[in-house]
Parts: sequence; C-alpha cells; structure tokens
Amino acid sequence: MAITASIAAPYPSRLGATTTRLPAEVDPLRLPNHVAIIMDGNSRWAKARGIAKERQLRAAAEACYSNAREIVRLSSDWGIKALTLFAFSTENFLRPREEVDQWMQQFDRVLSLDDPATILLDGIQFRCIGDTARLPRPLQAKISDAQSITSGNTGMKLVMAIGYGGHNDLVQACQALAREVEQGKMAVEEIDQINLAKRLMLGERCEDVGAPELLVRTSGEQRLSNFMLWHLAYSELVFEKKLWPDFGKEEYKNALVEFQGRMRTFGVRH
Ligand code: IPE
Ligand code: MG
Repeated sequence: MAITASIAAPYPSRLGATTTRLPAEVDPLRLPNHVAIIMDGNSRWAKARGIAKERQLRAAAEACYSNAREIVRLSSDWGIKALTLFAFSTENFLRPREEVDQWMQQFDRVLSLDDPATILLDGIQFRCIGDTARLPRPLQAKISDAQSITSGNTGMKLVMAIGYGGHNDLVQACQALAREVEQGKMAVEEIDQINLAKRLMLGERCEDVGAPELLVRTSGEQRLSNFMLWHLAYSELVFEKKLWPDFGKEEYKNALVEFQGRMRTFGVRH
C-alpha cells in the first residue's frame, strides 16, 4: 500500500506544493539550458495602471519582482538549468536618485530568505554578475549571504545581473588578462576565446553556466542595451510586446516554442 502510494504521488516540487508541468507544446528534450531575460517595461506598466505618481516607482519595482518570482518558479519547474535576469545595468545608476534607491530596496527584499517577496525559492542556487562594488554596502552583504546560503543547493542557477554592463564586463576581463601577462602568468598567444570567457563575470562567478541559448526582452524594445554582449553572440532573440509584469506562463511558453522553431546553424552550412 505504501509503495503504491509513493509511486502514484505527483512529482515532488522543490518550490512548493505543486509543480507546474511543462506545456505539451514545448519539447522537453530541446529546452534551452540557459535563458536570459531583460525585464523591461515596469515603469510603463505602473503608469498605465493609473497608479498615483508618488507610488509608481515602488509599484513598478514590486510588480517586476512579483513576476520575476513567478518566472523563476516556472523556469525551475520546467527544467531550465540556469536563468539570468537583467535587474540593473551600469547605465541605470544614472537614473534619478530616488528611483535607484527604490530598486536597491527591492533587491534587498528579494534577496532576503525571510521576506515573503524573496526570489530565493527552495533549491535555487543564487549567483550575481555585475559591478557589485557600486552597490550600497548592506546590499553587497546581502548578495554575498544569498550566494553562500544557496551554494549547497542543487536546483536551478539563478543569476542576477545587478550593476551589470557588457562593455564593463569585457573591459574588466581584458584588464585581468593583461595583469596575468604582466605578471608573467600567461603569454599573449595564450589569450583565446576560452581564456577570455573565463575572465568575464559569468565565467568567473558561475563557471558552470554557459552562454544563454535564448534571450527574451519584454515591452516591445528590440535592442540588447549592453547586456551580455559576448555571450549573446549566437543566442536566439525573442522580443515580446507585453510589459514585464504581464509576461506570464503563456508568453513564456510562446517564447520557448518560438526558440524551438528556430534553425540554429551557428554560421555553419547544413
Ligand atoms: C526595467 O524597467 C527595470 C530596470 C531598468 C531597473 P524600466 O524601469 O526600464 O521600465 P520602463 O521601460 O521605463 O517602462
Ligand atoms: Mg526600460
């Protein structure tokens, strides 16, 4: 009786009472390992909802992460191995002070295991890429705690790009290589694509996560905005018209179906 019951039990979810099954239209054998998302359109969403101006910034940040939490959960349930969320760019530091503060406060909340808004769902391994030295000190400590607390987990890798810029990533990798050459640890001829990629933030901090096969950007904007410039060289790009807080299960499924319908030849003739 006990054996029958355990066989009949639904697949256990690491993240909650129920696991959302991968939609039938998506082939589980051709899922991207790594999905990257530019979560754009949060401010427009808050404005379009008629939220009073003084509450828009907070509403945008909260809606952004309430949806991010849902997409983290779905990605994990569906078997995505790594999810990178573009949370804050190097250029976003130039936004008005109160907006920057609002996003920083929100990151603090969602990186706290004891906050109901946390995106550190059960089993997730949290990593961070970006120039974290530019972030407020308490947030730097939160990031470091979140990374160490979740380092023993075996579930999906959640990479948050905070204070991240693709140009900055490449520059700091070049500096690291130049330093090694200067110190006699590496010959100029040894600088190749593998060695460069290892010194990029993803390579340094998440060495087991490869380039994203799929990039999704919401809100109808069709550009990369300085996101993972090296890694996106051969990624499939999917641009979704909906604003990020409205990007749900259906839109995510559509992006995966679109990805699976693309012919990926990597420049080689087949
Ligand atoms: C993206 O949402 C989040 C961050 C840049 C931190 P936006 O704030 O860019 O929202 P829109 O694009 O102005 O609507
Ligand atoms: Mg935007």
